[in-house]
Amino acid sequence: MTHNDLIARGQSAALTSLPTLLLDQARHKRLNFQAAGLSFDFSRGLLSQADLDALLLHAQEIGLEQARSDLFAGKAINVTEDRAVMHMALRQPEREFMAKGDAISAAVRAGRAAATAFAHAIRTGSIAASDGRPFKSILHIGIGGSDLGPRLVYEALAPTAGSDITVRFAANIEPGELAAALVGLDPRETLILCVSKTFTTLETLENLTAARAWLQATIGPDDSAHLVAISAAPEKTKAAGFRPDRVFDFKEWVGGRFSLWSAVGLSCEIALGPEVVAEMHAGAAAMDIMFETLPLAENPVVIASLIGWWNRTCLNFKSRAVIPYAKRLRLLPQFLQQLEMESNGKSVDLGGHNVATSGPVVWGAEGTNAQHAFFQHLHQSPDVTPVEFIAIAQDDENAAGRTRMTLANVLAQAEALTHGKSLESVRQTMQAAGARAEQIAAIAPHRVFKGNRPSSFVLMDRLSPANFGAYLAFCEHRTFVEGKLWGVNSFDQWGVELGKVIASEIDMDLQNGPSDRRDPSSVAMIEKIRALRA
Ligand code: F6P
Repeated sequence: MTHNDLIARGQSAALTSLPTLLLDQARHKRLNFQAAGLSFDFSRGLLSQADLDALLLHAQEIGLEQARSDLFAGKAINVTEDRAVMHMALRQPEREFMAKGDAISAAVRAGRAAATAFAHAIRTGSIAASDGRPFKSILHIGIGGSDLGPRLVYEALAPTAGSDITVRFAANIEPGELAAALVGLDPRETLILCVSKTFTTLETLENLTAARAWLQATIGPDDSAHLVAISAAPEKTKAAGFRPDRVFDFKEWVGGRFSLWSAVGLSCEIALGPEVVAEMHAGAAAMDIMFETLPLAENPVVIASLIGWWNRTCLNFKSRAVIPYAKRLRLLPQFLQQLEMESNGKSVDLGGHNVATSGPVVWGAEGTNAQHAFFQHLHQSPDVTPVEFIAIAQDDENAAGRTRMTLANVLAQAEALTHGKSLESVRQTMQAAGARAEQIAAIAPHRVFKGNRPSSFVLMDRLSPANFGAYLAFCEHRTFVEGKLWGVNSFDQWGVELGKVIASEIDMDLQNGPSDRRDPSSVAMIEKIRALRA
């Protein structure tokens, strides 16, 4: 099954009728899954059973099963950095995993025990602030993978965990974010948790400096009791004044965007409690086992990935919208943007050859709000965007009616995208409402929905820590499988480096005037900015 065969299949699939495909009961069964507490419905994908068979054959032919074994065996699949990819070891601590031939699980267990003991000690007040009072708030400083995962987990689970400890997050170097994060915090009862794998990230180090100045202005120069670091660079944290017993390590085999399961999640463990985090890890572990062991055709991660690849590469849909129908998951699109676009937004394959396509743009916002914003585009733009809907069956018992209406909305959107509304049906509706013939002729085309727009559905009974963990693990594994389908290395991120280098040059130019390395547009802009700031 060559790539070109699949592209040709995609061209005819684009012409097939999704409403007709949905009538195929056997297909419905093959595209519906129950795994690790979650229900997945991929039957609104624009593909037939024969297309699915062709995709599964392709997955076999490119060696997906071997790639999956290599991942779990801790081989150095991140070839450009010569690293294994072993975030799964963090949520299955009892199992013995290896990374590049070294046993790692004893260290995982020790790391988990240390993080949990620390979280417990902060929660009970046995580790206290410099004047002996208990910590009431955490300022979590970090960016990218050192921020997005913990921020998402905290927003998703804090409302049900009922925390006494507040977490504020500061990622952006733009001063507004730290200023907002500090509003209402008392330095005397604030713990600063600085997360940086490299401990060289400009935004994080600048925010740390500013936050420590804020802290020291109240508690005095010895702020070490208020500082915790999570980093793979212990010598740098030591040089910055962090006590060695307040530094939790960040293993080389954990990528930033896969790191929320490590001590990177410590702020959540302190605020939400070790039990909540353990439950989330258990849900993720259940998804890991499912992904690792199920045959390709029965594996929801594999099917979701094949459809994701099919949508982008064979149907040429350039983006995917992610719409969680829960305010608590409003940060999910941002988290997935880093997870997927930093992983699979690549231009060459593992052999260094150009690829024609790689991962799509991922974007979205929470429903139902998004319905009143960009759903117009999803329904009627000539550009088709596959949508991933995430819905929660039971939520706030005191607002069961509104939860039901939320669910009605998400189902309605999936149906509307599938079936649309034909010109004939619009005409009939307008006629029944008493519209005149010339009105119908003028207005009806504007009210047509072409339909045939693919979507997928993830349903959880509740937004429990376990279900949430399972869903996040699903997303991580899907990113890996899709990367394999595009043939790229999903675990490096060289594309973020160039801008960092240029920014440090331009920072000098803003201070001293434009250097001859700048292009004419930058020179003019630097001069304007210097004049405005003079
Ligand atoms: O700039 C991208 C990136 O390297 C991400 O991959 C990473 O998650 C983030 O920066 C933060 O890096 P660090 O944890 O080293 O501060």
